[in-house]
Amino acid sequence: MSHSKRTQVAIIGAGPSGLLLGALLHRAGIDNIILERQTPDYVLSRIRAGILEQVSVDLLHEAGVGQGVSSGGTVHHSIELVFANKRHPIDVTRLTDGKVVTAYGQTEVTKDLMEHRTLKGLQTIYEAQDVALHNFDSKHPSITYKVGGTTHTLQADFIAGCDGFHGVSRASLPSGAVREYEKVYPFGWLGILADVPPVSPHAIVYANSERGFALCSMRSMTRSRYYVQCPIDDKVEDWSDERFWNELKSRLDPELAGKIITGPSIEKSIAPLRSFVAEPMRFGSLFLAGDAAHIVPPTGAKGLNLASTDVKYLSSAFIEFFKENSSAGIDNYSARCLKRIWRAERFSWWLTTLMHRFPDTEGFGQKVQEAELDYLVHSEALSKSLAENYVGLPLNFGEHA
Ligand code: APR
Ligand code: PHB
Repeated sequence: MSHSKRTQVAIIGAGPSGLLLGALLHRAGIDNIILERQTPDYVLSRIRAGILEQVSVDLLHEAGVGQGVSSGGTVHHSIELVFANKRHPIDVTRLTDGKVVTAYGQTEVTKDLMEHRTLKGLQTIYEAQDVALHNFDSKHPSITYKVGGTTHTLQADFIAGCDGFHGVSRASLPSGAVREYEKVYPFGWLGILADVPPVSPHAIVYANSERGFALCSMRSMTRSRYYVQCPIDDKVEDWSDERFWNELKSRLDPELAGKIITGPSIEKSIAPLRSFVAEPMRFGSLFLAGDAAHIVPPTGAKGLNLASTDVKYLSSAFIEFFKENSSAGIDNYSARCLKRIWRAERFSWWLTTLMHRFPDTEGFGQKVQEAELDYLVHSEALSKSLAENYVGLPLNFGEHA
């Protein structure tokens, strides 16, 4: 009995990066198989980001899975900044000549992509254990993995490492092959999901306060997502729902705080904040994409969007290789991605630094943050810079300058 298979692109990880890559490749007639360590339910149980740039929405349509975001997404034309107890709208659409962002949960994106894969009969091997990469410095890479105790081999032309920050792909690289840049922030985000109407259904609210950062977001008109900055070693058990709601309200302006509708949380978790980039993103036949190669703190809502654009560049590169017999795209993949990634890293670091209370923020730091925020909301130039980064810079930004 043979346990060996072959495909053109072997994808590790069935998160948004791996699933979107699989859909884009399938659309172009390129075979792919996904290996995922967890079960589909486990993958869908992770609550993550929720704001899509137009480029990401366009990619879902291009991949043939745009129906869900069209019917279930909420288009936002502005964001609101709260500081010194006052709310200030930033009219993102006016500042970017008509661009918008769409609130649609990563869980929904993942679910749409999983259903599409099933519908098209594309293979995803869930609960694949002990995934190991071989010969990726050659043109004949392969992967071994176990299902139910039996070892299998998957041969491929290319391997796409879409297995997140803790995945096996980056960890398989020889030491010295990759340079890692990292910044860990001295706090976390406590997030809750609750089936209550969002306090601000038309604009995400970002709040700077002396008690720390807070964020008001949504998943739908009946489901809200809220966050408060918390000490990194806090435990979820330390935070009753009541404590959470009181803390959230204390960080908003009084008018908004008065409008919050509270209810029981249906999910509550604490996430650390980190900036991380691994360079380069290609090693022979292995390509990293999404969280496997980079992490941004969630403040700028860039994680899922960066994953989408990596995968756009990667699918175009593979399509060029298989259909046009050209290696130009794969040779340029890492450099092209990293330009966009560092721009998003800068934006996410800047917004995180501006909005959070740091151990050394104290009185002076707080006043400087408030002065910068005040400058920002009154300066067309700074507001424009925030807005154009928030909606996402164009895919080819700076490429033909
Ligand atoms: N073998 C097989 N699969 C693995 C392995 C492994 N050794 N290690 C990890 N995986 C799987 C994980 O179980 C997960 O389902 O890879 C998948 C990676 O998915 P994500 O972590 O969601 O990463 P990605 O698809 O790049 O999505 C990036 O997620 O964290 C957010 O902000 C981030 O929104 C962005 C998005
Ligand atoms: C979310 O809805 O989860 C969300 C929104 C905006 C962010 C981060 C997270 O900046």
